[in-house]
Amino acid sequence: MKPMQVGLIGLGTVGAGVFEVLRRNQEEISRRAGRSIEVRAVSRRDIAKARAMVGGAARVEEDPRALIRDPEIEVIVELIGGYDLSRELVLEAIAAGKHVVTANKALLAVHGTEIFEAADKKGVIVAFEAAVAGGIPIIKALREGLTANRIQWIAGIINGTTNFILSEMRDKGLDFDVVLKEAQRLGYAEADPTFDIEGVDAAHKATIMSAIAFGIPVQFDKAYVEGITQLSATDIRYAEQLGYRIKLLGITKRREGEGVELRVHPTLVPAKRLLANVEGAMNAVVVNGDAVGTTLYYGKGAGSEPTASAVIADLVDVTRLATSDPQHRVPHLAFQHSQMRDVSVLPI
Ligand code: NDP
Ligand code: HSE
Repeated sequence: MKPMQVGLIGLGTVGAGVFEVLRRNQEEISRRAGRSIEVRAVSRRDIAKARAMVGGAARVEEDPRALIRDPEIEVIVELIGGYDLSRELVLEAIAAGKHVVTANKALLAVHGTEIFEAADKKGVIVAFEAAVAGGIPIIKALREGLTANRIQWIAGIINGTTNFILSEMRDKGLDFDVVLKEAQRLGYAEADPTFDIEGVDAAHKATIMSAIAFGIPVQFDKAYVEGITQLSATDIRYAEQLGYRIKLLGITKRREGEGVELRVHPTLVPAKRLLANVEGAMNAVVVNGDAVGTTLYYGKGAGSEPTASAVIADLVDVTRLATSDPQHRVPHLAFQHSQMRDVSVLPI
């Protein structure tokens, strides 16, 4: 069978990881997908760097739209981030009949409904495992593994940068700014790190999980959002003395007859709890369902290859599904609109 041809837009921390892991594990990945997966073309602004990175293994384009226009490319991987250009590119790719894989939680939390509806109409897939909790397959768990359940609540450490900052401040007594710079150097932080430290990134992710778990539209604007910038080393020390650790949690909860709670804020977690012991850039998500009870998902929530792992899992899924009957695909969020109640999203 003809290889699945991929267009990779964005070759930064995550894009470079995707390119490298696809190259390194090409044989296993293609076997699992049932079809070879090839990066046909890449795009980033600095094309000299792109050429140095991919060698002759893929075409390099400065204009990302050249990838969307390429009739051989079946799936576009969007890894540039942001809301504006990424929205345009994703919608154009969908309109051109291409499947999309993205790690862009900001885009989906704000424009998800429009994007999923467009994909639905066109009969293409938008896959986004990497958008929440990096390498942890939490989207798959919510949509597939826990599909028998009425989800009651989800709570998690879903931003690696802030968890890294809180851990390093507590363990090493380092200053906030010093640790933030290190998180940026390690590729954990967003291009605009205020999204991390002000809780916005965690709220994007909580919004996406909430929409999947409760079948509601993506409503980032309704979330209560508080980050860690008001915390001092003294707060962290006092919490420790009282037997707690401060963690930035994203929480979404079903409130029977009322709606859905959606909030992100620093939380005192008893030091003996599992969540209190999630350190560094690790993420952990706890999901409670009526049938399964409480389940825990743990792993690297940020960084080049952990995130690439999730992006490539989506590529494998898309490759498998692209050749299957569209009727049997797992629905996007927007496909649940017919079942949707009139839901208000409540702050605390
Ligand atoms: P980076 O800033 O490291 O990389 C962004 C890439 O996009 C760069 O290669 C940049 O090119 C390219 N780019 C930006 N604008 C354009 C444009 N106009 N045309 C073509 N290319 C462009 O970001 P990350 O890799 O860290 O993040 C990518 C996405 O993945 C974001 O949505 C982020 O939220 C998400 N994500 C990131 C994680 C992480 O751990 N870093 C984890 C999970 C999700 P150039 O450098 O040449 O300017
Ligand atoms: N900036 C994000 C974080 C990247 O620190 O968790 C992973 O989504």
